[in-house]
Amino acid sequence: MLLKIPNVLNKEQVHQVKQVMLAADWTDGNVTAGYQSSQAKNNLQLPENSHAAIELGDLILATLAKNNMFMSAALPLKIFPPLFNCYQGGGNFGVHVDNAIRQVPGTPVKVRTDVSMTLFISEPDEYEGGELVIEETFGSQKVKLAAGDMILYPSTSLHRVTPVTRGRRLASFFWLQSMISSDEKRSLLFDMDMAIQSLRNKVADSPEIIQLTGVYHNMLRQWAQT
Ligand code: NI
Repeated sequence: MLLKIPNVLNKEQVHQVKQVMLAADWTDGNVTAGYQSSQAKNNLQLPENSHAAIELGDLILATLAKNNMFMSAALPLKIFPPLFNCYQGGGNFGVHVDNAIRQVPGTPVKVRTDVSMTLFISEPDEYEGGELVIEETFGSQKVKLAAGDMILYPSTSLHRVTPVTRGRRLASFFWLQSMISSDEKRSLLFDMDMAIQSLRNKVADSPEIIQLTGVYHNMLRQWAQT
């Protein structure tokens, strides 16, 4: 499932994040890349344990915890702290697949990457290129969203970022381990949850909605790993 989650950050928060990012010290993006992806990666990153990355990561995680669409689509168990990158001057990231397991720096916590997220911090008209291209079963999808919007996609997908030939592309990217490792099952649960919520807005709680809600939770109970 490829899902756009609009307005994860409002414009004021985007502005705040951008100011902190622009004032921070950057490092080569290869510090968090595995061997294969390091051959393909050409961008800048905020150091993982930097004050800026931690402060901004906490802000993003706090807003996501209140985002119903995100919670329903991702069913997160463990979230890797958000990272921040910058592409400019032809910077790009060739085709790769993200590492399956990531250890949270300075902790024994390991996160299996089931879902990948990119949260756009620069507006699309601030740079040329810089599309996130995700290979899906039905072909490749090019993603370039408004600042504050986020794309969520299965970490199993091959993906790349096309060269940024003008301006600067700031973004946050991170991964999570879902209670539902299968993208197929997670999509089913998400569709069902969305349909139930939309039904509930059309008709007041009816016995059928209560029954469907029960089915949703019983499916989650069968499939979830916690
Ligand atoms: Ni990646």
